[in-house]
Order: sequence, then structure tokens, then C-alpha cells
Amino acid sequence: QRFTQILGRTTLITLVAAGGTFYYITQVERHPGPQLPFDESKKTLVILGSGWGATSLLKAIDTTDYNVLVISPKNYFLFTPLLPSVAAGTLNSRSIIQSTRYITRHKPRSVTVIEAEAKEVDPFNKTVTFEDTSPIKGSIASTTIPYDYLVMAVGAEVQTFGIPGVQEHSCFMKELADAERMQKQFLDCLESAAFPGQSPEEVERLLHMVVVGGGPTGVELSGEIHDFLEDDLKSWYPELANKIKITLVEALPSVLPTFSEQLIDYTESTFKESKIEILTKTMVKEVKEKSVVVQMPDKSIAELPCGMVVWAGGNKLRKVTHDLMLKLPEYQNDRRGIVVDDYLRMKGADGIYAIGDCSATSYAPTAQVASQEGAYLARMLVQMAKKENLETRATELAAELANATTEEERKRLSEQLDIAQKQMAKVKLRPFHYSHQGSLAYIGSEKAVADLPFMNGNIASGGVATYLFWRSAYLSTLFSLRNRTLVATDWLKVKIFGRDVARE
Ligand code: FAD
Ligand code: NAI
Repeated sequence: QRFTQILGRTTLITLVAAGGTFYYITQVERHPGPQLPFDESKKTLVILGSGWGATSLLKAIDTTDYNVLVISPKNYFLFTPLLPSVAAGTLNSRSIIQSTRYITRHKPRSVTVIEAEAKEVDPFNKTVTFEDTSPIKGSIASTTIPYDYLVMAVGAEVQTFGIPGVQEHSCFMKELADAERMQKQFLDCLESAAFPGQSPEEVERLLHMVVVGGGPTGVELSGEIHDFLEDDLKSWYPELANKIKITLVEALPSVLPTFSEQLIDYTESTFKESKIEILTKTMVKEVKEKSVVVQMPDKSIAELPCGMVVWAGGNKLRKVTHDLMLKLPEYQNDRRGIVVDDYLRMKGADGIYAIGDCSATSYAPTAQVASQEGAYLARMLVQMAKKENLETRATELAAELANATTEEERKRLSEQLDIAQKQMAKVKLRPFHYSHQGSLAYIGSEKAVADLPFMNGNIASGGVATYLFWRSAYLSTLFSLRNRTLVATDWLKVKIFGRDVARE
């Protein structure tokens, strides 16, 4: 009887909790209430970008004290760490994006989201010019607005080093469209190889996938393509699957140069077992329609016939960032990006901040750094508004005090002024401090590698347990419950039904 009572109570509590969560998501989350309108007396904060840095800033900032505008050619946040999984068909592309409006609609004061590309920033007149670059445009497609504070969070674009043919004949792995394009091209190579009468050489070429760049992007992508091959293609293309070849080309002596040596060895031996060929000390010199020209370690030139090339050769600055830096040559002379001080303020400019991949700091250009910088800036901006409000209040009180006629009034006002000054002194702007949480990379075959900080040292781990850690870490880092649910469902779907090989 006691057991039935406990069971009944537990069931009741579970049902109430589930009902509450369901109500919260369907009513509160999906239907946010009214927001404070724009207020002319508040400062205008313009955020350029909707990626890691910008979204983390938007999530953390209290918009009560600012009129905030977000300008980005993408009206969503993209969870880049899972992009290679989209390319290999493990995840649906919609599962790793989250609408920016979803975040801004839950803010206290309304935030304007503008789908446009910033074309020019004028640091002297404090204006930004942006343009609607999407296929459908209204009668106005370009405009200029003023800002009080501007946050540059435009990220970076793919570095091609001007190598001939890269732009024309490679797939990139930076945007959602890149992953979708790669998936289509990969499946097209398979179907073309299956076309009747194809010569053995042509089949071999079409089924040769070359990934350029042995950084984390290239490694993760090679691992994901390998999984697709092992888990699914062997079943649906039995006559072709054993002819598929993956080659990873890297100019440096090893892949994953920023990981510890032990993990580099582990990755290289896992790739060897997975039959992914690694060509290190090999530099791509040209990408042609049907081949890649490489300079081998002995400096000889070789041509590798292939069906698809994925270029993961690193980052370079966007034009808008570069143009802005050119306007302040005295202060902005670092080729890696915008030079900032310890508070992430752009050197030489008034009111401009730079976060993430478009800035040059002592940290690696990673999501981890960008999101910590975004959250820091949100706290800073709130502190700055607090300080300014207190300053205004103190000025008003001082003026009232000067005009006070009675002793009682003078006493009250000077007490209030004293409190405001003490509060002002307490508002401290602290410099940015990065806390490294470790580096993680998926290497295929349900294995991952991780360099995790421990005490004053580092723990290097690789294998299936690290892969489970990788999955849970990324699942929990996803920005919304919707994303977490969709990604978990996609993983389950792939486990049960496999990846889809239908080419859209
Ligand atoms: P982004 O996130 O790239 O955001 C830039 C934003 O600016 C985008 O919204 C873009 O649309 C917008 N934008 C572009 N041009 C303009 C313009 N002219 N005007 C206005 N807006 C503009 N890092 C990790 O720490 N861990 C990982 O596992 C990891 N995996 C990755 C996997 C892949 C495939 C890739 C490509 C990167 C990965 N990274 C990872 C790196 C990480 O994605 C970047 O460091 C991070 O995105 C940088 O954040 P950001 O805000 O500076 O730029
Ligand atoms: P990257 O800059 O880390 O690596 C690019 C690689 O391409 C370099 O090793 C370079 O030597 C090689 N390369 C360039 N040109 C070449 C050529 N012509 N021929 C042969 N090799 C060539 O770029 P990646 O991997 O895109 O990463 C960018 C940033 O994002 C890095 O900071 C990285 O740490 C981060 N990132 C982190 C991930 C993770 O933590 N799991 C995953 C993906 C990216």
C-alpha cells in the first residue's frame, strides 16, 4: 500500500512537471509578451552579425538601457561545430540553426533585426551602411544609420590564398549552404559513378573525395564522410562503396596542429584504420574541375584526379572588416583582424567593439572565445549604462542641490547625491578574461579527441568515451531546447533508419 502511494505521488509530480514544461514551451516561449518600445533617450547599440559572438551577446544583454539593432545577412544563428554532420547527412540542416528573432523577442526592450549585409562602417561619423543582398528586395535596399556603440561580430570568410580554381571548383565548409551543397555534390558523384558504362578510371575519379586542410574542420569532415560510407553507403551502393576514397591534404607536418601530440598520433592512426589517406607536408597548388594539383613533400608536382574537393584551408578577414581597419591605419595593422584593448574596444575608434573571428587577440578563432567575448561585452554594456544613469542622476541632484532653498531639502539632496556617488564608484569595468574549457574534435568511427584543462595541466583523451562526451557537450551547448530536441531526434533517426541517400 505504501509502495502504491509513493508510486502514485511520483507519477503525479512527474505529470505536473511535464505539464508545466509543456505549458511553458508552448505558451510562454512560443508566444512572448509585449516588449518596451524604442526610447529616443537611450543609446543605440548596433550589432553586426548573428553568429557565435553576436548571439551570445544578445542572449546575455539586458536591453532595457539600449535601443538594439542586429544587422546580419543571415537571420539565424548557425551552430558551426555540427556543420560537418549536416554535410554527411547525419543531421538535418534546420536542426542546427535558430532564428535570431526567437532570441530578440524574449528581450525586455524590443530589438530590431535587419537581414542585410553591412557594407561600410564610418568610425568618424559613427554610421554604418548596409544593404539587402537577398534575392527579393523592397524599393529601399540600402541605407545608412548612426550608432552610439557598434559591435563588430561579422566573423571571417574562407581563406583561399588566391590559389587558382579553389573558388570555382571546391565546396567550402563555413555556411549552411556549403554543407548542403557538399552533400548534394557527394551524392551526385556516387550516382554519376553508378551511370552505366563508366570506365574504371572514371569511377575511381568520381569516388575520390579530397579534403584540403588538416585543421579541425577538415578532420571532422573526413571523419563524417567516412561514417556515411561505413554506416550507409555500403548498404545502398554495395558495388561502389569499397571504391570510395577519402584523402586529407595538409601543408603542415601533421593534422590538428593545435592538439597535443598524443591526440595527433591517435587521429592519424584512427584515420589509417578507417582508410582515410593523410598527405601531410603536401601543398595544394591548384584545383581543377576534375583534379587537384599538389606539391608533394619532395617538391615534385602531382595531379590527383577526384570527383569532389572540400576546401577547409582556414580563415581570412571579411571586406567590411578590412575596409574599416584601413580607415585607422595608425592603430589597425594586424593582418589577423581588428586590434582591440583589454575591454574589446577597437583601438583608435570611439564606441566600436570587436569580438570573435574578426578580431585579433591572443586567443584562437573559436566559438568558445567568441561566445565568452559576447557574454562579457553584454555585462560590460550593462555596467556602462548603469554608470551613465548614475552620472546623469548625480548631475541632476547636484543641480537641484545648488538651487535648494531650505536646509531640510539640502540635507535630503546631499544624502541622495552621496549615495549616487558611492554607487558610481562601485561600478567597475573589468578587462576580458578568457577561460579555456578545452578542445574537442570528432574524428569519425564514433571516436573523438579532447584536450581538457585539468589543474594547471592538460588531459588528453581519445576514443568512444570521448565521443559520448563530445555529443553530450555539444548537445548541452546548443542555444535552445528546440535545437537540442531536433539534434537528439536526428541522431536517433540515423541510428534507426540510417542517413538519407536521396539527392534533393
Ligand atoms: P560567426 O559565428 O562566423 O558569425 C559571423 C556572423 O556575421 C554571421 O551571422 C554572418 O552571417 C554575419 N556576417 C557576415 N558578414 C556580415 C556583414 N557584412 N554584415 C553583417 N553581418 C555579417 N569553434 C569551436 O570552438 N569549437 C568547434 O567545435 C568549432 N567547430 C567549427 C566547425 C566548423 C565547420 C567551422 C567552420 C568552425 C568551427 N568553429 C568551432 C569555429 C567557430 O565557428 C568560429 O570561431 C565562430 O563561429 C566565430 O564566431 P563569430 O561570431 O566571430 O563569427
Ligand atoms: P585551420 O586554420 O585550423 O586549418 C586550416 C589548415 O589548412 C591549416 O592546417 C593549413 O596548413 C591548411 N592549408 C591551408 N592551405 C593549404 C594548402 N594550399 N594545401 C594544404 N593545406 C593547406 O582552419 P579550420 O580547420 O577551418 O579551423 C578554423 C578555426 O575554427 C580554428 O581556430 C579552429 O580551431 C576552429 N575550429 C575548431 C573546431 C573544434 O574545436 N572542434 C572545429 C572546426 C574549427
